[in-house]
Amino acid sequence: MKSVNFLLAIVLLALASSLASAYDPSPLQDFCVAVDDTKTAIFVNGKFCKDPTLATPDDFTFSGLNIPTDTNNFLGQNATQLTVDQFPGLNTLGITLARVDYAPGGVNPPHIHPRGTELLLIQKGTIFAGFVDSNNTLFSKILYPGDVIVFPLAMNHFQVNIGKTDGVAFASFNSQNPGVITLANSIFGTNPPIDPYALARAFQLDVNVVKELQAKF
Ligand SMILES: *[C@@H]1O[C@H](CO)[C@@H](O)[C@H](O)[C@H]1NC(C)=O
Ligand SMILES: *[C@@H]1O[C@H](CO)[C@@H](O)[C@H](O)[C@H]1NC(C)=O
Repeated sequence: MKSVNFLLAIVLLALASSLASAYDPSPLQDFCVAVDDTKTAIFVNGKFCKDPTLATPDDFTFSGLNIPTDTNNFLGQNATQLTVDQFPGLNTLGITLARVDYAPGGVNPPHIHPRGTELLLIQKGTIFAGFVDSNNTLFSKILYPGDVIVFPLAMNHFQVNIGKTDGVAFASFNSQNPGVITLANSIFGTNPPIDPYALARAFQLDVNVVKELQAKF
């Protein structure tokens, strides 16, 4: 547990020093604890701030990232996301954390975070990870506990647990709401479906193969 805390501290320190280039707005006050107010019709891009005199230590803490998630699904992977919705004290601060769990052979499939650069710190397991730049060059490496990889803003990236044990990694993002676009879902699992003819041409596949893929999502 001690080594987890130590590694987490390193990630958080690294992120804190990169906040100057964060994309989220700079806070205009010490903090802005998020509240959901359904009684107002004013549109706010983000969350409302709680009256600062009502803020409590619980607004700025979260417990439970030591608990593994259930990886018994078709990917063999799951995650606990700590966005502003789970952790209101993050509001406007341009930072979030996630825990990722991998079964042996588990895959975090190719995806994009449209609003956040990610630092991924391996705590357990042997993880093959990589990202693809806008020139379609793949940058990838096998990572071991204590190793860190950065996935630059909006780059397609993935991880595979190639070890024989469960894997655990912690991800931090320079956005309070980095978002996630999973490529397979955003191509074959859209609502309504993208015209199978367009996908067949794009992927050089038979239309029936495209329809079969669309049926899986
Ligand atoms: C992820 O883990 C949580 C907590 O263990 C569980 O409730 C949820 O169903 C899991 N999701 C998937 C897709 O396996
Ligand atoms: C883009 O990719 C091509 C082919 O892989 C490579 O020759 C070229 O150096 C790359 N350019 C940049 C800027 O990375």
